[in-house]
Amino acid sequence: MEGAIDAITRDLLTCHEGLDWTVTEFVRVVDARLPPRVFYKHCPELREPVVATPSGIPVHLQLLGSDPQALAANASQAIRLGAIGLDLNFGCPAKTVNRHDGGASLLRDPERVYRAVAAVADAAAGTVPVTAKVRLGFADRRLALACAQAAEAGGAHHLVVHARTRNEGYRPPAHWEWIARIRHRLSIPVIANGDIWTLEEYWKARSLSGCEDVMLGRGMLADPDLARRIRHWQRTGERLPETPWSRRASVLTTYARRQQAHLPDKVIVSLLKQWLNQMRARDTEAAQRFAALRRETRLAPFLAGLQPYAPGRASHDETIEAVPDRAALA
Ligand SMILES: Cc1cc2nc3c(=O)[nH]c(=O)nc-3n(C[C@H](O)[C@H](O)[C@H](O)COP(=O)(O)O)c2cc1C
Repeated sequence: MEGAIDAITRDLLTCHEGLDWTVTEFVRVVDARLPPRVFYKHCPELREPVVATPSGIPVHLQLLGSDPQALAANASQAIRLGAIGLDLNFGCPAKTVNRHDGGASLLRDPERVYRAVAAVADAAAGTVPVTAKVRLGFADRRLALACAQAAEAGGAHHLVVHARTRNEGYRPPAHWEWIARIRHRLSIPVIANGDIWTLEEYWKARSLSGCEDVMLGRGMLADPDLARRIRHWQRTGERLPETPWSRRASVLTTYARRQQAHLPDKVIVSLLKQWLNQMRARDTEAAQRFAALRRETRLAPFLAGLQPYAPGRASHDETIEAVPDRAALA
């Protein structure tokens, strides 16, 4: 997620089980082949012997662009640098990106989706999987299926569908049932995305889309234990307790401490606010902390304001609660 999930965040969010792979922020491709430093900036894991987070979760690199030749040249460059998977972004709704013919703007013409995917798949020549991420359309859903089929015909190994159109932005609801309509007509795996913030929403998204796999976005920032919660339930049928504030505060504090080696304190505070903002929608303590800290710009007081009020309560007790019926998803 651009501006939200970098290598440090990936590391923090994959240190517990749950995620199978991660995707970088998009590398913006216009017309030229980009220098290696751009790829290393977005994906420092390329410098490691295995392109994965320190916990061993693979990191795929995302490209965003519309010119097939430029995409192919940059795909080759990324593979030369060690990329192990290339994802193409056809979902970004940002006005500047769309004005310059990138992201979701290609969903107005399935042929262009096809050409972009095919060019990258040709460049990859089977050495690494090429995948695509789409929304249900630009202004409406009329081309949802055609775009998904175009990505498949172009050679996509799997397709992630964010169940909203570009014009729907991030507004709920996500139309998971539309993913089912696409999934029925494709032979490649389809992965459901959009508005999965809780275990219950994971069940609903899976039930309505019929997809075996989901992609988590903001929900992982809101609850850093979401993937772990889902995995735990898949394995045991048991529900983990709510993520305590102490755990959330610890993730935010570790994030800030690690970012201090790279970024000025003021920038770190605004990144922390962005993250806390995702947490506050679903967590009352995060909402209270956000309200108390929203005007703070200094890092030390900000971090002090995140600390649990009663340190004695901070132990990370993982008692298992009542067990839901596993058949709910069947
Ligand atoms: C701040 C922000 C940045 C994002 N950046 C990217 C990106 O670089 N690449 C991408 O494929 N999706 C990006 N997304 C979209 C998310 O990956 C995801 O598809 C969307 O938020 C819906 O899923 P969610 O409700 O689980 O967050 C971004 C979303 C947000 C809110």
